[in-house]
Amino acid sequence: MTSTLITHIGELVTNDPARDGLLGLLRDAALVIEGDRVAWVGPASEAPQADTYVDAGARAVLPGFVDSHSHLVFAGDRAAEFAARMTGEPYTAGGIRTTVAATRAATDEQLTAHVAHLVQEMQRQGTTTVEIKSGYGLTVRDEARSLAIARQFTEETTFLGAHVVPADTDPAAYVDLVTGPMLAAAAPYAKWVDAFCEVGAFDADQARAVLEAGRAAGLEGRLHANQLGPGPGVRLAAELGLRAVDHCTYLSDDDVAALRDAGTIATLLPGVEFSTRQPYPDARALLDRGVRVALASDCNPGSSFTSSMPLCIALAVREMGLSPAEAVHAATRVGADALGRDDLGALVPGGRADLVLLDAPSHVHLAYRPGVPLAAGVWIGGRPL
Ligand code: NIG
Ligand code: FE
Repeated sequence: MTSTLITHIGELVTNDPARDGLLGLLRDAALVIEGDRVAWVGPASEAPQADTYVDAGARAVLPGFVDSHSHLVFAGDRAAEFAARMTGEPYTAGGIRTTVAATRAATDEQLTAHVAHLVQEMQRQGTTTVEIKSGYGLTVRDEARSLAIARQFTEETTFLGAHVVPADTDPAAYVDLVTGPMLAAAAPYAKWVDAFCEVGAFDADQARAVLEAGRAAGLEGRLHANQLGPGPGVRLAAELGLRAVDHCTYLSDDDVAALRDAGTIATLLPGVEFSTRQPYPDARALLDRGVRVALASDCNPGSSFTSSMPLCIALAVREMGLSPAEAVHAATRVGADALGRDDLGALVPGGRADLVLLDAPSHVHLAYRPGVPLAAGVWIGGRPL
């Protein structure tokens, strides 16, 4: 097994709770990669020998971003819908059907090439793990093939047959399809099951039926909730003890208390508020009330066509009240927890060697220099990109 020593690191974000502060910062640090794992972390002056050396040039090294929410399997785009929104049209769940039609018409090869392109785009910006949902197929065949394609890129795949009810379909019959034959076809390729619990999509009873059927088929639940307005989704997620509930844009005091009591992570997706001109969720209030917050891109052609975790970090700092350290933690360690992955999101011996070298002296620059491509080097499972 070959080893690589990355040395002369100005600031190393370890996310190791045994070290300093929220980010477990280490200055003048070094790190050794062996195979796909981190083998050693410590002061550069004490670093062991290795087969190859990388000089970080006093710049910052972080765990790779864990993007725990994306919808990459789709065809076409909705730039015209975005442009209309920017001149006053509201965002509605109905736009999803435009992408469903384009996705059904695409070949497997076209969809696969498009996912590959977006995954590379993410990786170049420092994302080392991505969760990918289905949800633009909405037939047994198209949901199963969407997940089979997603599986070629990540273990973190999510069955989202309950994204919207397809056009000209009876909602009750569609929920029966999702919880029956579609789930059976999707389950071999999925780790998670999700539903869009919102006006214009699925109500709480329908979402509960989907998550319970998914759980019976061996899939763990997650939920899109309280994105477009207040609703029952976040409380449902807490009641079901889900690991994470995503969006959480419109929360009541009771919703926040339910999240805190259940220990359910609120995954916030600021690309959505940016792209739909909605108010940003109050991440500061969530943290202050004891709720854990993760950040993810929600990369999709409708509500958030960004693949950039650095943009999400910058928005969370500027618009949602997080400190740069809290935002980086939310995009790495808490994102890993939102996926139930204790091997990701921290640079500690034995953890996966997923890391980013920034062309900057500290993690603060991710928010301080918005829009600047700062990822100068990325290692995924110990391999340089
Ligand atoms: O997470 N909320 C539902 N699904 C996506 C948007 C899908 C679309 O507009 O195409 C989301 O925002
Ligand atoms: Fe989403």
